[in-house]
Amino acid sequence: MSLQTEKILVLDFGSQTTQLIARRVRELKVYCEIHPFNWPLEEIRAFRPSGLILSGGPASVYWDGAPTASTEIFELGCPVLGICYGMQLMAHLLGGRVQRPDKREYGRVQLNLLSLGDGPAPLFRGLAPGEPHTVWMSHGDRIEAAPPGFLAAAESDNAPLAAMADVERRLYGVQFHPEVAHTPDGKLILGNFLFQICGLKGLWTMENFVQSTVSELKDRIGRDRVICGLSGGVDSAVVAMLLHRAVGQQAVSVFVDNGLLRHQEAEQVVSLFRDRFGLNLVFVQAGEEFLGRLKGVVEPEQKRKIIGNLFIEIFEREAKKLGQAKYLAQGTLYPDVIESVSFKGPSATIKTHHNVGGLPERMNLSLIEPLRELFKDEGRAVGRELGLPEEIINRQPFPGPGLAIRILGEVTPERLKILRQADHIVTEEIRMAGLYERVWQSFAVLLPVKTVGVMGDERTYENVVALRSVDSLDAMTADWTRLPYEVLGRISNRIINEVGGVNRVVFDISSKPPATIEWE
Ligand code: XMP
Repeated sequence: MSLQTEKILVLDFGSQTTQLIARRVRELKVYCEIHPFNWPLEEIRAFRPSGLILSGGPASVYWDGAPTASTEIFELGCPVLGICYGMQLMAHLLGGRVQRPDKREYGRVQLNLLSLGDGPAPLFRGLAPGEPHTVWMSHGDRIEAAPPGFLAAAESDNAPLAAMADVERRLYGVQFHPEVAHTPDGKLILGNFLFQICGLKGLWTMENFVQSTVSELKDRIGRDRVICGLSGGVDSAVVAMLLHRAVGQQAVSVFVDNGLLRHQEAEQVVSLFRDRFGLNLVFVQAGEEFLGRLKGVVEPEQKRKIIGNLFIEIFEREAKKLGQAKYLAQGTLYPDVIESVSFKGPSATIKTHHNVGGLPERMNLSLIEPLRELFKDEGRAVGRELGLPEEIINRQPFPGPGLAIRILGEVTPERLKILRQADHIVTEEIRMAGLYERVWQSFAVLLPVKTVGVMGDERTYENVVALRSVDSLDAMTADWTRLPYEVLGRISNRIINEVGGVNRVVFDISSKPPATIEWE
């Protein structure tokens, strides 16, 4: 539980934009957590929210089994903002009337602010009263009659109660979605809820996150030992740095070189974390072991399994060598947490490649997840606060099974060498073109086919490398990057000239879906 004094609680009724509400609130520097709509009242009280937001959701308040809440949530003493379904539920529970009209309202809609007697509601402070304001709507039901005590605060063509307010009780509802980018004044409106209505100041900064987390970690770990797996990616790097700051040498970072990493990645990790930052780092060179187990294996999921299992085996072996540790730290982020505890009900199944298998249970280690309240970009901001260099902070995502799933077919030392060189050229050229941070991932893939070429007077019969570069926001969907022809040309020339064994480069122009980002 966080030490913040200003906290917004978002109750999730199943909207696809619930996470966005939390993000916007945090962008406004107010700490915020999402919990399922049926979070018990005692927990809500214990959380002591400074304000409550009820999210949207796909249901209708009249459906059997529609998600609902206790009316006591309106009597916690803190302001409440209902968004879309959240507003309809508020109206329904407090004695208003919700109905399904003939027409749905979907997309951009003009909102007219209404005066509550002495001007527009505090929720709309800063918005010019006489002008229409564009907002994003997506609703079937609408409110026909506001509950007792509420006034209409805004209307649209299709919703006479597009916003409602009970200023005295500090209860507000908006039919539109202030959290999405299609509502240009959405952030101002959410800011009004936080600052004007809840009276908050906006104290959530990465600096105070670092301070409070370091002090919590110190208290929790005491004189015990904590181990953490360092992968070279940003999340585990931030965790390792936080632990180091909190308990110094009691924190041991284990970094396993599985032989499937990018060009000079292992050396960079060791020199940065051990030599520059002074972390207590165990470096395990296990490339040969991994390659041994991968011999003859061509099936992608089998590669993943072998690599994952061996990683756990090695990690466990190293942890045992270290002697008694009490904690295992990992870089779980907030989206991983809410993905599992949100609307569908509280069951914490975090993606398997994010944790170290059943290790915590088998070795009787308690888990420490200092980033479990943060979004990815907040994790990055913490990394900056801790002095991590940009090359770690902005590093493109890299899969746990590494280059093994970018070598189609069997992984051999020779093929690894070819792919690593080709991949390094891709990264160098993408960086040189100023694109490395603009694209989501850009890398080389070694294909299991040979094609005919000519070099000098000689006919060649050699490997094909595919170039993959995608733009994406979250890896769920992705579009291929429209790389400039000059960049494509340079990458192709350099790979063919500099990497022995490659005579052809192709560019992958498939989007996800239906293709995936990785080839295996
Ligand atoms: P796909 O290929 O499914 O990838 O479009 C989506 C994102 O996940 C990464 N990825 C993995 N990461 N272990 C990981 O840690 C894996 O087995 C794995 N497979 C894919 C991929 O690089 C992309 O960012």
